[in-house]
Amino acid sequence: MFITFEGIEGCGKSTQIKLLHDKLSASGADVVATHEPGGTHAGAEIRKILLRSGSGPMDPVTELLLFSAARSELVNAVIMPAILQGRHVLCDRFHDSTFAYQGHARGVDIEVVRTVTQIATGGLTPERTIVLDLPVEAGLDRAMSRMMTVKNPEARFEEEGVRFHSLVRDGFLAIAAEDPDRVKVVDATGSVEDVQALIVKELRDILPLG
Ligand code: TYD
Repeated sequence: MFITFEGIEGCGKSTQIKLLHDKLSASGADVVATHEPGGTHAGAEIRKILLRSGSGPMDPVTELLLFSAARSELVNAVIMPAILQGRHVLCDRFHDSTFAYQGHARGVDIEVVRTVTQIATGGLTPERTIVLDLPVEAGLDRAMSRMMTVKNPEARFEEEGVRFHSLVRDGFLAIAAEDPDRVKVVDATGSVEDVQALIVKELRDILPLG
């Protein structure tokens, strides 16, 4: 199974993916967790260009192409090989982030996003996608308080305002409304344990989760 996790900044994806990964591994499943942008040598280099704090605006189509280049590398070097070996893949962000951030929020034509995504993924689509949803202010508060303790050198998107992140959130909710069989919206405002339980509920039919 290929499962992706999406949501605005501070929605708690990485914590939840780690918990789910550990739960699946403990039950004997062969599972790989990876993330975007990154997960490969080229992807990590592209990530630095995209996320460097204070590096200012970038042309939205350039952004689209860079995220997509990192995705193409990840699909070919990590995701497809793992799937072909019969492993489960959990991916922190995938093509829905491009539709929400570069499409809905930055305003790149959705048909252009679709075409480039098709090229980058070769048509690979997750079996299921979990959107961790919470109000933008709550997400940004979490992201900011994290940055107070550890300076984040990769905060170019966190530096965008509430309006931008509201467009991103609306983008994810619109994607879920268009594709309800694949994309499940989970309320991410509760405790780590509560949110994990909601995620497990949405994945129990396709993963060995008891
Ligand atoms: P990251 O530090 O991985 O943040 P998070 O923990 O929120 O996933 O940064 C990834 C950033 O890149 C995040 O702000 C969302 C953005 N992004 C896009 O704009 N388009 C994309 O296609 C992807 C994959 C990410």
